[in-house]
Amino acid sequence: MSEHIGAASDTLTIEGLSGGYDRFDVIHDIAFRVGAGEAVALLGPNGAGKTTVLRAIMGLLPRRRGRIEIEGSDIAGLPTRRIARGLVGLVPEGRRLFTGQSVEDNLRLGGMHVRRDTARTQELLQSVFDLFPVVERYRAREATALSGGEQQMVAIGRMMMSDPALMLLDEPSLGLAPLAIQDLTKALQRLRGQNRSILLVEQRVDMALEVCDRVYVLSEGRIVDEGRAADIGAEGRALIDAYLG
Ligand SMILES: Nc1ncnc2c1ncn2[C@@H]1O[C@H](COP(=O)(O)OP(=O)(O)OP(=O)(O)O)[C@@H](O)[C@H]1O
Ligand SMILES: [Mg+2]
Repeated sequence: MSEHIGAASDTLTIEGLSGGYDRFDVIHDIAFRVGAGEAVALLGPNGAGKTTVLRAIMGLLPRRRGRIEIEGSDIAGLPTRRIARGLVGLVPEGRRLFTGQSVEDNLRLGGMHVRRDTARTQELLQSVFDLFPVVERYRAREATALSGGEQQMVAIGRMMMSDPALMLLDEPSLGLAPLAIQDLTKALQRLRGQNRSILLVEQRVDMALEVCDRVYVLSEGRIVDEGRAADIGAEGRALIDAYLG
């Protein structure tokens, strides 16, 4: 796969990012970028440090060093509540929808910081419903009563409601049936088609290559390979599969 690919305007730039939870670093000197309107995949096996990288971006990692920039501004010192307000949106591993709340309430809770702007809230709700008709159809139902695939779409919609510059998705395909993964892939392709900046963490290489422009491979807390999705032939696939075990 090719060397570093540069571009003028980046939504996310990470340089020299290291960090961890206790005394030991679990991510080491990480550097990568997501261009404006680009969908980028971060692939890696269990325990590689994918979620840890996302936690670092959200300001949730107890210990970290390095630069994290959103649209050219360093966010490494900002509190999570500030980062979540329109800078970065996260669809967490396992979705974590609010139980006992309707689909629509879940969506509105994602847009708390714009709630007083009812016109903007309506606009954001409409953009979610346009992308996921099933979410609109079930807007009054209890969110956690939906199927896994439907819940994932609600979780993505809730993230969209925060109107973020960068969208992070942590293994959205996890635990879904093959048909639901197909629907999710199509939905993510539509999201990508709207020129959103997306960082998709996945273990499903096939899905990531269908959705993303570029991929990075994370192994044992280090970026070990990168390339354009369109350039990754059978040889590149075999290499990625080898890293993913
Ligand atoms: N809260 C925590 N406290 C201490 N160590 C942690 C914590 N969370 C993760 N780790 C460790 O950090 C390393 C990276 O974990 P991380 O969750 O980032 O991996 P991952 O690539 O997201 O894996 P998976 O695909 O299983 O979700 C692992 O060794 C893990 O045990
Ligand atoms: Mg993870």
